[in-house]
Amino acid sequence: MKSETNSVVDHYTRNNLMERIREALSSAGHDSDILTVSMLSELDHLHGGGLTTTEVQAELAQIPFGCQVLDAGCGIGGPSRYLADTYGCQVSAIDLTSEFVEVAHQLNEQVGLDDKITVTVGSVTELPYEDHSFDVVLSQNVSMNVADKTKMFSEAFRVLKPRGIFTFSHLADGPNAPPIYPLPWALTPDVSFLETPQKIIDVLSAAGFVEIEDKASVASSKPGGPPPSGTIGGAPAMGDDMPARIQNSIQSNQEGRLIPMMVVARRPS
Ligand SMILES: C[S@@+](CC[C@H](N)C(=O)[O-])C[C@H]1O[C@@H](n2cnc3c(N)ncnc32)[C@H](O)[C@@H]1O
Repeated sequence: MKSETNSVVDHYTRNNLMERIREALSSAGHDSDILTVSMLSELDHLHGGGLTTTEVQAELAQIPFGCQVLDAGCGIGGPSRYLADTYGCQVSAIDLTSEFVEVAHQLNEQVGLDDKITVTVGSVTELPYEDHSFDVVLSQNVSMNVADKTKMFSEAFRVLKPRGIFTFSHLADGPNAPPIYPLPWALTPDVSFLETPQKIIDVLSAAGFVEIEDKASVASSKPGGPPPSGTIGGAPAMGDDMPARIQNSIQSNQEGRLIPMMVVARRPS
């Protein structure tokens, strides 16, 4: 039987991803030989609401300008590039899927942000960083693929500086769970570990976090929502069937099968 992490990597690995990205940009009328952060943002924020959700989450979490950030489960690096470019952050980024990490690295180089972002292959449950390394840990739509949330949250706690901020978006089980599969993060339930919102908060609290708030109800853009209109969306990186998988997420949300969360919590001093 495949390990959970192998199944997650299989789910996200595309092959020829750089080519797919260039083709999608060209089809949308961009000159894909000269990449920019703004052009890439049409397709590199791999969560509901795309760039808009990242902007809203960064604002709600009050990410300080120029701080040290860990992007935990960085995908192809859209949120990392946004924080380096807009907030002047120094970003360490980590992801289990080596193809995503390779593409993130190439894109960072091509937009001239490789001196501000370092990308590594690895798991959010076993972080290769020293204690107290970061002001902020950001993790968008990653925890749904992580069975051991106790390990994920305690690793985020360990690498944060005192008073550091942990912010993550998550889709939790609603009262009418299970959700409708296939979903953006899992085609079948075997790589989907959702838990109830209360359980997520309880595990976070047990890891030592304080000032825990779920800001999803005040966020104008939701982790499980549609991509902003007029953008390319996540299909080049996540698969051509993304529109149907996003529709299942939206319907599951409407039917109380899924509950979007956008959590901000603090490591105490
Ligand atoms: C839906 S994508 C979101 C990517 C990125 N956070 C974003 O919002 O653009 C989920 C990502 O989580 C990564 N992932 C899943 N489990 C992980 C783990 N245990 N450690 C590190 N990355 C993981 C996947 O490889 C994938 O890149």
